[in-house]
Amino acid sequence: MCGIIGYVGGSSAEPILVEGLRRLEYRGYDSAGLAICNGGVLTCTKVAGKIARLEEEIDGRELPGQCGIAHTRWATHGPPTQDNAHPHTDCSGKIALVHNGIIENYAYLKDTLEKEGHVFTSETDSEVLVHLIEKYFKGNLESAVQQALQWVTGTYGIGVVAVDDPGKIVGARNGSPLVVGIGNGEYFLASDVPAILRHTRQVIYLDDQELVVLTKDGLRTSTIADNEAVTKIVQEISWDVDRAEKEGYAHFMLKEIYEQARTVSDAISGRTVQDDGTARLGGLNLTDEQLRSTKRVIITACGTSFHAGLIGEYMLEEWARIPVEVEYASEFRYRNPVIEDGTLCIVISQSGETADTLAAMREARRRGARALGICNVVGSMIAREADGGVYIHAGPEIGVASTKAFTSQVVVLSLITLLMGRMRHMSVADGQRTIAALRALPGQIQTILEQADEIKRIAKIYCEHDNFLYLGRGCNYPVALEGALKLKEISYIHAEGYPAAEMKHGPIALITKHMPVVVIATKDSAYEKVMGNLSEVKARRGRILAIATEGDSEIKNHAEHVFYIPPTLQALTPVLSVIPLQLLAYYIAVMRECNVDQPRNLAKSVTVE
Ligand code: M6R
Repeated sequence: MCGIIGYVGGSSAEPILVEGLRRLEYRGYDSAGLAICNGGVLTCTKVAGKIARLEEEIDGRELPGQCGIAHTRWATHGPPTQDNAHPHTDCSGKIALVHNGIIENYAYLKDTLEKEGHVFTSETDSEVLVHLIEKYFKGNLESAVQQALQWVTGTYGIGVVAVDDPGKIVGARNGSPLVVGIGNGEYFLASDVPAILRHTRQVIYLDDQELVVLTKDGLRTSTIADNEAVTKIVQEISWDVDRAEKEGYAHFMLKEIYEQARTVSDAISGRTVQDDGTARLGGLNLTDEQLRSTKRVIITACGTSFHAGLIGEYMLEEWARIPVEVEYASEFRYRNPVIEDGTLCIVISQSGETADTLAAMREARRRGARALGICNVVGSMIAREADGGVYIHAGPEIGVASTKAFTSQVVVLSLITLLMGRMRHMSVADGQRTIAALRALPGQIQTILEQADEIKRIAKIYCEHDNFLYLGRGCNYPVALEGALKLKEISYIHAEGYPAAEMKHGPIALITKHMPVVVIATKDSAYEKVMGNLSEVKARRGRILAIATEGDSEIKNHAEHVFYIPPTLQALTPVLSVIPLQLLAYYIAVMRECNVDQPRNLAKSVTVE
């Protein structure tokens, strides 16, 4: 949530900052701004609205200077107005700051600073930071930032510049991501890698409680607490800049849906052992004995990742015969969860920085569970704090609605299941069958994607409706939840996901011809039961769109529209059945002229509780 970019070097800062902001816009798009130092002058420009508004505002004006910071906001404290936009400046207008995170003791700090004569111009929590830095500033910016942060409780990733300490950006991190890009005589500070990838692949990830000073001649990292120098490892980003571009697709979401044949293949690649019918996962940091003696698994996550977790539950119980509980991270952390010996906590997060998920993982570890992270963003908080983990390697997911991360999460869960299952009840033959099914998935996904026009045609028929019900059973129940979530978040249509049989205990009252029912009715052990549920819908004149298995002609007697997907193992069906639902939500949102990549009120990474 909120995107930060900073630049210091030999080039004009403004175009670099604006371009970086565009690449970070998925992190928030309520308001935007930038501050550039040029000699003794600090120019600060900010607007309510998206980056495009900021560009309009700047258009035609010269913003000279080779050192600056910029921000795109997702509002927490104070509405998305120009005053609340970042950067925030101190009373003299000579220090500017951008912030991502939440300052928990801001009310106390603001009160104290106001009594000391500081004048605030926004309702944000962030503004206290710049006044606090002003209070300690005596010509050395890093020293002022370091002293100011001693008073702060909360999370922050910040970038600060001051005209009286020119050519310098100070960054600091506690709980909100910051990455430093190392160029040739130039340095970058950003919330996320895509913002700087056009300029450099050499990066340093700041850790919590670290501060960095950037000038065009070099960088210094130190601890915030006592200014002790810290040596950081420079890492090379391997994916190329195209993976963070739309590459001709109308939206990132569509591009990411279409990437799934490759991303699923990447998630599997090199991780199966054909002869033994098992999986090989490098980063688990668990011995075979620890894996074998796992008595119980707790999966915790939010949103789409939570839905992947529900499928993981189904797989682990079915194939590995391990009892599993899946909990919303936001609930788990505030309960008093029972963690017994032998509990493994699997934490799923695309971004690796979701505040609730991170807190749930910390709680589980505090109580003695070992935590395995399933993350996409390399070097993210959850990935680093977990005892071990598996990267899904899906590449940057920019669309706010998660798509390719979901299918890769499910695949990684199936690999963990395969590994644990083979240590328990699963035979070599079953393991090999699973591997064959996994390897077939990318080709099957491609087949589905080639029929996207059919989903588009169906979307046209249904796009006017304002309420939808999604039904599924077994491992397709979480797919119903995920299909409904996709529709809700990008087209603002009310949609509910339900276990198909549960419908008759209440939601059936909603069924009319105006409430389409989307059902995942693949040929599996629940098929006949689902047909019964569909008859109940039909008897009430409900309109049905079914996702069915190729070759199933019976389904046409029940459903008005049918979309076929290839057959696979029951537990892997979600990897295929979710794709037409992603496309359906996408096309309906486009037809309703919604902003697909930046749906209202949402941000990609939810770093607040
Ligand atoms: O980065 P995470 O996987 O932890 O994010 C969890 C949710 O915030 C995320 O899945 C959210 O629900 C998406 N907007 C769903 O499309």
